Amino acid sequence: MTDRLTQLRQEILERTRELIRLREVPKPFLPGQSVVPYAGRVFDEEEVVAGVSSMLDFWLTLGPEGAAFEAELAAFLGVSRTLLVNSGSSANLVAMATLTSHRLGERRVCPGDEVITVAAGFPTTVAPIIQCGAVPVFIDNDPITGNLRIDHLEDAYVAGKTKAVMVAHTLGNPFDLTEVVRFCRDKGLWLIEDNCDSLGSRYGDALTGTFGDLSTQSFYPPHHLTLGEGGAVNVTKESLLKSVAESIRDWGRDCWCPSGKDNTCRRRFEWQLGELPQGYDHKYIYSHLGYNLKPLDPQAAIGRQQLKKLPGFIQSRIDNWSYLRRGLMDLADVLDFTLPTHATGWSESGFQWEAGKPLVTPSWFGFMMLVKPGGPLSRTGLARALDDAKIGNRMLFGGNLVRQPAFVQLAKDSQGQAFRVIGDLAGADRIMNDSLFVGTYPGLTREHLDHIIAVVRTSFGRS
Ligand SMILES: Cc1ncc(COP(=O)(O)O)c(C=O)c1O
Repeated sequence: MTDRLTQLRQEILERTRELIRLREVPKPFLPGQSVVPYAGRVFDEEEVVAGVSSMLDFWLTLGPEGAAFEAELAAFLGVSRTLLVNSGSSANLVAMATLTSHRLGERRVCPGDEVITVAAGFPTTVAPIIQCGAVPVFIDNDPITGNLRIDHLEDAYVAGKTKAVMVAHTLGNPFDLTEVVRFCRDKGLWLIEDNCDSLGSRYGDALTGTFGDLSTQSFYPPHHLTLGEGGAVNVTKESLLKSVAESIRDWGRDCWCPSGKDNTCRRRFEWQLGELPQGYDHKYIYSHLGYNLKPLDPQAAIGRQQLKKLPGFIQSRIDNWSYLRRGLMDLADVLDFTLPTHATGWSESGFQWEAGKPLVTPSWFGFMMLVKPGGPLSRTGLARALDDAKIGNRMLFGGNLVRQPAFVQLAKDSQGQAFRVIGDLAGADRIMNDSLFVGTYPGLTREHLDHIIAVVRTSFGRS
């Protein structure tokens, strides 16, 4: 019987492999007719076979594949622990909620405490701050790096009220980690790095996502690797945050048994916590107000195959960004191009750098351009031209978030108490009004990139 089962399984997996090889053949590219996505899944038969194999096991809930993926991603990053969750948004929610734990004593984020963040970015980097009862304080973005304005950090800080900084590395470009880490250390603040768009980016010798107390990943298809849906919380150093984050992800429970296991602590009926009776089952003791934000095990099986491809994916994003930049190099009179943090310029031989600063190597999520005001074409004009040529393009997510209907409403409902704004947010407004980005993802071929370059060039009247 066992032999028959093994044989059937092998047949199914072999057939799956064959199907994917036959189906996933590149189609000829026809400029203007074929779609050039800004992002997408890049996979081969290995991901599908791993997913099918895990489905055949039918364990379903986070289990052996999840544990292996968590360990492998933690090893890649060099962090103490990685916890899988069902999205990058959930990862941000778990990370923020972790900082509200009573176990953190005086450093705990309490209702009404403030968290510094940046105005132009992704909404669910900010929403968890409010969902956890804290007050986001928006500082401005530098439109050229896309990242937070370091010089606005001090203005945002209020002694005794500010408890954390929570920001993303915009489109894979690491923010100034030297200054942000120093600021957080000097003031005793937590740092959450939203690393959702920057897996594989380097600041000096270290990867982003390893500098903060916590960091987060997204595995939604446009991201550097995909599990379909999914995300992760990284706990960078051995700390209390590990057990708290796990508790928040897993219903708020005190117990840390993996799914399907009992009595990992060997004291299952010996605990007395809260006002519960002595010996109440540890499996059902809740030390936090938690969620259940776990993904499925087959997703992790797919992710393990994606992880093997990650170094190649990262290199491809870097190469694609450089290719686009070279193809558009004579458009600097009409377009501003992103520069990595600490870079002062770009030429065909590479970036020029500020002296004495760490070298920054973004694992680019996208290629951002800002249309110069007063030029022949508006940002929306450029977006339309790209759309007409079937080239995927995106705005920098929510633009200046405080101008989004959700935040306008929140300001009204709370009579201005729900968040604070530092300065005029002119940089975030510039990003909102003038920028868009096209793809750098590993699925783009030279033909795709040449088509993007040609359409941008002709839109500005260049051959
Ligand atoms: C910076 C940033 N943070 C968080 C998220 C949320 O990730 P998810 O879509 O997996 O919820 C995204 C989504 O793209 C993002 O760009």
